[in-house]
Amino acid sequence: MMIVLNHKMKLTYQEAKEYAELLDKTTYTDQVVVCPNMAYLSLFRGSNYKLGSQDVSPFLTGSHTGDVSSEQLKSLKVKYCLIGHSERRSDYQEDNKIILKKAQALLSQEIRPILCIGETFSEKSDKKNILINEIKNVFDALNKEEQQQIIIAYEPIWAIGTGQVPDKQEIEETISFIKQLIKENYEINCEVLYGGSINEQNYSDLKQIAVLDGLLIGGFSIRINDLQKLLEVQ
Ligand code: PGA
Repeated sequence: MMIVLNHKMKLTYQEAKEYAELLDKTTYTDQVVVCPNMAYLSLFRGSNYKLGSQDVSPFLTGSHTGDVSSEQLKSLKVKYCLIGHSERRSDYQEDNKIILKKAQALLSQEIRPILCIGETFSEKSDKKNILINEIKNVFDALNKEEQQQIIIAYEPIWAIGTGQVPDKQEIEETISFIKQLIKENYEINCEVLYGGSINEQNYSDLKQIAVLDGLLIGGFSIRINDLQKLLEVQ
C-alpha cells in the first residue's frame, strides 16, 4: 500500500528536521511518500521512503517568481507530486487547464502526478459526473504511457480536515467506480488512493478496504509520533 503524507503548510524548519530524522529510524513495509512543505524538500532524503511535492509550476522554464519547476523537483529526487488538490483549486482558482499543464510538466521529468479529485458536500448527488470530468480532463490529453503514470487520490472535499469520513462501503463503491471508469475508457489499471480526515482511529480500518491502493493523510501526517506507531506495525 502507498501511504502519502501531505504536510501542507505545517511545521517549522526545526520540526521538519526532527521529523525527517525520525523517519530515517524506521523500516516501512508500506511505500511511504512524504510531501513536506516545499521549503523543506531537501531535508527529506531517506532511503526508506520516497519524496513527494505538494505542488509544481505549470511552466517548464522561464521567469515565474515563486514557482518551482518540475525539473527543479526532479533535481531534488522528487518522485511524486500532488496536483488538483481542493485547497489549491479553491485558494488559487486552479482550473482544469492549469491542472493538466502541471500533469504534463511532471510527466516530462518522470515524476508521477497524484491527481486529487472529489466532490463538495452540495455536489454529492452529482459525484460521478464531477469525478468523470476531473479524470477526463487529464487522461484525455495524455497517451497511454503517460496515463499509466497517473495515480488518483479520491478526496471528498467535505471530508478534508473536517473529521467526517464516508463509510467504508461508500469509499469502496467510489474507488471501484473510478477504477472501472479508467479501465473501460483507457484500458489501464489505475492506482487509486483515499484521502480525507484519516487519523489513528480510522487508519487501520480504512487500510482493510481491498480495492484501495493507498491512503493520503493530511492533518494527521504531522503528528509523527502517533503516525510512526501505525506505520511501523504494518
Ligand atoms: P486531512 O487532509 O487528512 O487533513 O483531511 C487530506 C488532504 O488534504 O490531503
